[in-house]
Amino acid sequence: MCGITGYVGGREKSVRLVLDNLKKLEYRGYDSAGVAVVAADTHDVTVLKRQGKLGNLEAALDGLGAARGTVIAHTRWATHGRPSDGNAHPHCDCTGRIALIHNGIIENYLSLKERLLAEGHVFHSDTDTEVLAHLIESHLKRNGGKMEMAVRGALAEVTGAYAVCVVSEQEPETIYAAKTASPLIIGLGEGENFLASDIPAVMGHTRRVLVLEDGDFARITPDGVTLTTVAGEPITRDEFAVTWDVRTAEKGGYPHFMLKEIHDQPQTIRDTLRGRVTEGNQITFPELKLPTAKLLDFHRIVIVACGTAYHAGMVGKSFYEHLLRRPVEVQVASEFRYNDPIVDQHTLAIIISQSGETADTLAALREAKVKGATTLAIVNVVGSSIAREADEVIYTYAGLEISVASTKAYVSQLIALYLIGLYIAQQENKLDREVVAAYVEQLKALPRQVAQILTQADAIAELARPLAHSSSFFFLGRGFDYAVALEAALKLKEVSYIHAEAYAAGEMKHGPLALVEPGVSVVCFATQSALYDKMLSNVKEVKARDGAAIAVVKEGDEGLDARSVDSVIRIPGTHDTFMPVLAIIPAQLLAYHIAAALGREIDQPRNLAKSVTVE
Ligand code: F6R
Repeated sequence: MCGITGYVGGREKSVRLVLDNLKKLEYRGYDSAGVAVVAADTHDVTVLKRQGKLGNLEAALDGLGAARGTVIAHTRWATHGRPSDGNAHPHCDCTGRIALIHNGIIENYLSLKERLLAEGHVFHSDTDTEVLAHLIESHLKRNGGKMEMAVRGALAEVTGAYAVCVVSEQEPETIYAAKTASPLIIGLGEGENFLASDIPAVMGHTRRVLVLEDGDFARITPDGVTLTTVAGEPITRDEFAVTWDVRTAEKGGYPHFMLKEIHDQPQTIRDTLRGRVTEGNQITFPELKLPTAKLLDFHRIVIVACGTAYHAGMVGKSFYEHLLRRPVEVQVASEFRYNDPIVDQHTLAIIISQSGETADTLAALREAKVKGATTLAIVNVVGSSIAREADEVIYTYAGLEISVASTKAYVSQLIALYLIGLYIAQQENKLDREVVAAYVEQLKALPRQVAQILTQADAIAELARPLAHSSSFFFLGRGFDYAVALEAALKLKEVSYIHAEAYAAGEMKHGPLALVEPGVSVVCFATQSALYDKMLSNVKEVKARDGAAIAVVKEGDEGLDARSVDSVIRIPGTHDTFMPVLAIIPAQLLAYHIAAALGREIDQPRNLAKSVTVE
């Protein structure tokens, strides 16, 4: 996701300083970079931007490298508009006297842009962000030139997520900053102050930090920081002293990226939902070009993906068949094109990939296209090969996932799949508005429910430690829980190197039960109301063979307790079809803590790569 850095103060070569700080945020991933400086002497605003790595920007700096003044800089992870010099931040108003950088999404940018175009503003990029620069200019004209009021006024009109920093020729020693939903911190210095989207960027200069909260608005000068709400109500935030080292700070204070990314998931879900749910709780996909008539014409849906993304696809299959009553097939991408797939112009092929570069998935996409299918990709990495080649793209907006073992990308894929299924059902008039709205309400509650499960993280860590000595694991479930079991087993294998298998619980007695003995641990997911009693019987079969049984159940389901299983993890309930989002969280934590107890290389497991670009 985008990275932000900024500086106000009297240092020489402040552009260099801000770019060096920005390098500390490279781990967040980006596709272009840019910088704006308000020169200390002339007060002119100069902007420089380049597609690609920070090195490209540095190579183009020339005299700017030695410049002194107030500086903001940005690394962009493309959302609206492809990666390019023009779409890189900072963006300016028509006069070039205001420059700003932004992390997040401005949801109402289209209507604002139409208004600003009618007012005569000229746009130079395809981004949502540029709208904000012109909007500030528009307010400035109307309010007689008061910069602070103009920034506040513009922000009050914007909906969506933002961390934003604004500089101007008019107030050369001031940065205005605000945030809602995207991170922003201020590093406090003596006669100087720093801004960044994450703490590591300022740690070389100060350990005193203010972490801004949603709705905060800051006026930052060399001498101090004034905090208010966007509307101007004064607020205070406690200063916080950073005691971590830089590597720990990049991981948000967690020992591994995997654990950080597990804890990121409430926000991930919000980010995937953002912009796709109307005020009336209906589904909208402004990015889809596919006409509704075409959407309704598909006779079958084929979902293709690898690994974790395939497991998300399995949830999608069950959801779509339940909701749409249309046949849905889910195939492993590496098999797809060798199976002579039954795909034609009446097929919707949904291709799921975090990286958008997985060789088998890309080949499957091409095969589906050759056979005449319409292809819809669910992808995290903007501008990746799969995103470019698919007919339609739905981005998951999970942000950069660094841990090889996928956690937040998986959850974001589930959310995207649910939204697409509900969207088709809505367009088909298969569901009443109220029913769609009820589903959406439950989707919107998921971030809070995931956060609630994460409060059990310490208890799950306790539970995990003795399990690290298990000789092998089974993960069992029925219905939606079976798909969760597959993903849970994969997570454990990848990071702990303990052998693990997932089974549809009813299959155990057809063979695998022979393997259950002391030392074998069995995680039983029992979150599906209609199948709960059947799961109870399967759990008993395991216990009768002296396996260690761990049950994941919904709060209020008391059939499995300390008398029938060794441990119970209780999670909040939602619609059964959405339970995979909640049920996978304890399994991710178990996998992580078992691997940690065994001292594994958690973020980079042996033999594995984050992006599998070979067949
Ligand atoms: C497991 C994992 C992999 C990927 C698979 C597909 O944690 O991350 O199984 O899901 O390699 O990768 P993408 O989604 O990038 O196509």
